[in-house]
Amino acid sequence: MTATVNISQTSPSGVNSHTLFVCKTCASVWQDGKRLGESGGQKLLQQLQQLAQDWELRDDFLIQEVECMSACNRSCVVAFTAQGKLTYLFGDLAVDGSATAVLECASQYYAKPDGLLPWSERPEALKKGILARIPSLS
Ligand code: FES
Repeated sequence: MTATVNISQTSPSGVNSHTLFVCKTCASVWQDGKRLGESGGQKLLQQLQQLAQDWELRDDFLIQEVECMSACNRSCVVAFTAQGKLTYLFGDLAVDGSATAVLECASQYYAKPDGLLPWSERPEALKKGILARIPSLS
């Protein structure tokens, strides 16, 4: 099940919002087919939600939890996407200490018309774990 966790799906202008997907299954511990306790992805998601309360882009950047983005051996995993922009998939994010960097990178993504995130400008936590850069549809 996916759920919308922050705040609105469209910007005040009604234009499609930017979306930050967060895998909530990453860094899970499994036993007999059941997850034990809270996953690392859930913890990262909660940290992002908490930080986003004071984020200037909270009304423009949807934070959406997802079950999996098929990069399970590179957890934790997030993705940035928006209409007309590149889509980025990042992995290898530490459960603790990555949330600030993820929102900082999201702000950079938001500011770029094409979403381009040059390596040299990205926060340290998102310099090494890039898994995909997918062209926009437009
Ligand atoms: S479990 Fe997170 S990408 Fe698959």
